[in-house]
Amino acid sequence: FGAGTLAGLRVVVSAGPTYEDIDPVRFIGNRSSGRMGFAVAEAAALAGAEVTLVAGPVSLPTPPGVARRIDVRSAAQMREAVLAGAAQADIYVGAAAVGDYRPLEVAPHKLKKQDGAPLALQLTENPDILKELAARSPRPFLVGFAAETRELAAYAQDKLARKGLDMIAANRVGAGLGFEAEDNALAVYWPGGGEELPRAPKRDLATRLVACIAERYRATYA
Ligand code: PMT
Repeated sequence: FGAGTLAGLRVVVSAGPTYEDIDPVRFIGNRSSGRMGFAVAEAAALAGAEVTLVAGPVSLPTPPGVARRIDVRSAAQMREAVLAGAAQADIYVGAAAVGDYRPLEVAPHKLKKQDGAPLALQLTENPDILKELAARSPRPFLVGFAAETRELAAYAQDKLARKGLDMIAANRVGAGLGFEAEDNALAVYWPGGGEELPRAPKRDLATRLVACIAERYRATYA
């Protein structure tokens, strides 16, 4: 895997969680640390790509070689930054754990306790960034992630087909893997094929994933 594999290509990587505000002091988020996406951004830069990293709220330094970093908070902001970047990109890697739902309304003031009565939050679905990109023409080569706690292969392959992706990297979450963890293990699928990337630190895994992306990209556009 030579350093020039992605040379001349523009790659957008999303990483981290999104925070969906409930009121001025509370939000709905998830356990993504951003490590996997940051490692992919670093590996893509090492492979010669011009990398734009769209980062949710994480506390990680920008990896060496990354050309541009855009910090966002909500799924709506992530969507805007990704769509803008992806318009000129050759490859998009969606490693972010984008919140599927957000509160229908953001309370302007801190919500008060209800004297023991249940508090109901109404949620509305966020737009699916990957799906939206898949519907564009032209569009970048699309790599999604899938985080599943069960039936990994079936759910991932369903996502690959349903979202119209070129590749999906599925990780089983839990047991020291996936969200927040140092290590991960991926099952990568593309239409008509796949590859297992066994448990390893996220940086090593990202290097292997980027090699796999470069190979599939070249095969698709050869
Ligand atoms: O950040 P770390 O702590 O290192 O953890 C890494 C990770 C587990 C978060 C990462 O490897 C991962 O799997 N990211 C995707 C998690 C996820 O949200 O999966 P999903 O099955 O909900 O979404 C599938 C794909 O659709 C993802 O590529 C996601 O970016 C994308 N998506 C989801 C919802 C949405 N509204 N828009 C999207 O584009």
